[in-house]
This record gives sequence, C-alpha cells and structure tokens, in this order.
Amino acid sequence: MSKLVPAVRSGDVLIPALGFGTWQLENGTARPLVEQALAAGYRHIDTAQIYRNERDVGAAIAASGIKRDEIFLTTKVWVDHFADGDLQRSAERSLEKLGVDHVDLLLLHWPKPAVPLAETLAALNEVRDRGLTRAIGLSNFPSAVMAAAQAVSKAPLATNQIEYHPYLSQKTLIAAAAATEAGTSITAWSPLAQGKVAQDPVLIRIGEAHGKTPGQVTLRWLIQQGVIAIPRTRTPARIVENFDILDFDLSEAEMAAIFALARPDGRIGNWLDDAFQWDAD
Ligand SMILES: NC(=O)c1ccc[n+]([C@@H]2O[C@H](COP(=O)([O-])OP(=O)(O)OC[C@H]3O[C@@H](n4cnc5c(N)ncnc54)[C@H](OP(=O)(O)O)[C@@H]3O)[C@@H](O)[C@H]2O)c1
Repeated sequence: MSKLVPAVRSGDVLIPALGFGTWQLENGTARPLVEQALAAGYRHIDTAQIYRNERDVGAAIAASGIKRDEIFLTTKVWVDHFADGDLQRSAERSLEKLGVDHVDLLLLHWPKPAVPLAETLAALNEVRDRGLTRAIGLSNFPSAVMAAAQAVSKAPLATNQIEYHPYLSQKTLIAAAAATEAGTSITAWSPLAQGKVAQDPVLIRIGEAHGKTPGQVTLRWLIQQGVIAIPRTRTPARIVENFDILDFDLSEAEMAAIFALARPDGRIGNWLDDAFQWDAD
C-alpha cells in the first residue's frame, strides 16, 4: 500500500495534501498526539497562535527526530497582531515557542478591517523576506478580500484555509483560488464537519464499497479534488485511520454524490467580521 501523500502546488511551495490539525488540543494534549501523527506518517502540522499549543507542537516535532525540512509546519497570526511591527514580533514569538528558526507557512487567521490590508500584507511579506517563513497565506478570506490581499502582496499567497467539507459547497471560493495567477491552493478546515460525516448514510454506503470509513471517504474526496485536508482527532486509532486514504480512488459518480450533500445551512464556524461577506456558495 502506497503511503506517499500527494503535494499540492501552492504559490511558490508544495504543501502535503494531508496534515494534522491541532485546534482545541490545549493543556499539553497536543504533544503526544502530534508525536503519534508524525510516527503515523503525517508530515504537515497545522497550529495557530490562538490555539495556545505552539510550545507543545514544537516539542513534539523536536522529540520526533524527523528532520525539520521533512515537516511542513503552519501557524497563523491572530487578528490582534495585524499592525506593522506587531505582526513581525508575534511571528518571532511563534518561532520561539515552536523552537524553530522558520515555519513553512504563516497565515492571517481571519480578515479584520481594523488595520489596512496593505499594512498587514507588507508586514507579512517582510517576515517572509527575513526567512522566518517559507510562504505566506490567508485563512477565512472570502474571494473579494482574497483578491484585494493578493493585489497588495509582493509574494504569492500560497493557500486560503477555509471551512470545507461535504455539507458546505465553497464552489465560488475554490474556483476563485484556482483562477489566481499566484496559484493559491485551498486548505480545508473542519474537513470532517467536526465528526458529523461519521453518521452520513451516503458516506457510509460509499465507504462500504471500498472497505473504508465515512471519515476516510470524506478526506479522499477532498484530496482527490486537489484540496489540502487537516483533520484533527484526540483518538490514537483515528490518527492512523485518517492517514489511511492513499490506497483507493473514488469514482466520478461517488465524487458527485458527495458534492450533492452540500446544503445552504452547512457552515459550522462563523467568526467573519461584519465588514465582509461570504461568497454565495
Ligand atoms: N483556520 C481556521 O479558522 C480554522 C478553524 C477551525 C479549524 N481549523 C484547523 O482545522 C483542523 C480540523 O478542524 P476541526 O478540528 O474543527 O474539525 P474536524 O477535523 O473536521 O473534526 C474533528 C472532530 O472529528 C472527530 N473525528 C476525527 N476523525 C474522525 C473519524 N475518522 N471519524 C469520525 N470522527 C472523527 C474528532 O473526534 P475525536 O477527537 O474524539 O477523535 C473531532 O471531534 C483544526 O484542528 C485546525 O487545525 C482552522
């Protein structure tokens, strides 16, 4: 069985299509789980300043013995640190906590109108120019704000990390990212709809045909589209389960059946500032 995770070209870097998410893994819980994920084969770890676990994630990476350049590490700048100077200092603090001299990807966590985009993007580019991150990108940026951010960014915006799973279409935003000159990829957060996919009859039926679970079918559906998925679990067996998606393909009909699960009320997490609007679907 092949365990080679495909990489998605994203701006000027390659991102492993499957990563391990660490939201809500606080108070020391992230360290053993990230260690297990690395042992299971994950080479892409997603954290954020606001997750309060950068030290634990860094400790797990150090303990793994895996070479730094074999791991794709992402963190995200929280919205309070979007001003020039503050952003750069917050990135330095993240590196200190993570115990690394650079991350692979540094994202703006949510768009915020308080600081002009041009100021924030210039600060983010400076962090990249100083070598503190290999690539920069966005999270939760609707297509209009994504375009505005790219227009004022010297470096390509590698990814837009957004909520995406079978119940939320995101057709417009995915097409907009695919059309960018920068080559912005899409990274799916809450790829398992926070566990809801496990009870879905359509996903259960498709899984049965392949000897796979509904979670595995969902993650396969994402990476088969060229989307990057970063599932999270506190359950050791599921760390392995969620990585075991590289040895089967979904048919066109199966892909279409999963796309058909999208519904207007499918969004789970919405912290978008009132100044912005989600794309229609
Ligand atoms: N950029 C952003 O604004 C943003 C927002 C949210 C999340 N994220 C990132 O995306 C990552 C993933 O999103 P998420 O944590 O919200 O949700 P998720 O990965 O969609 O779902 C996690 C939930 O699903 C359960 N689960 C995991 N694997 C499963 C499986 N194979 N079958 C059934 N249930 C399963 C987990 O339960 P157990 O733990 O009990 O196994 C957990 O309750 C986060 O950890 C974070 O890194 C980013």
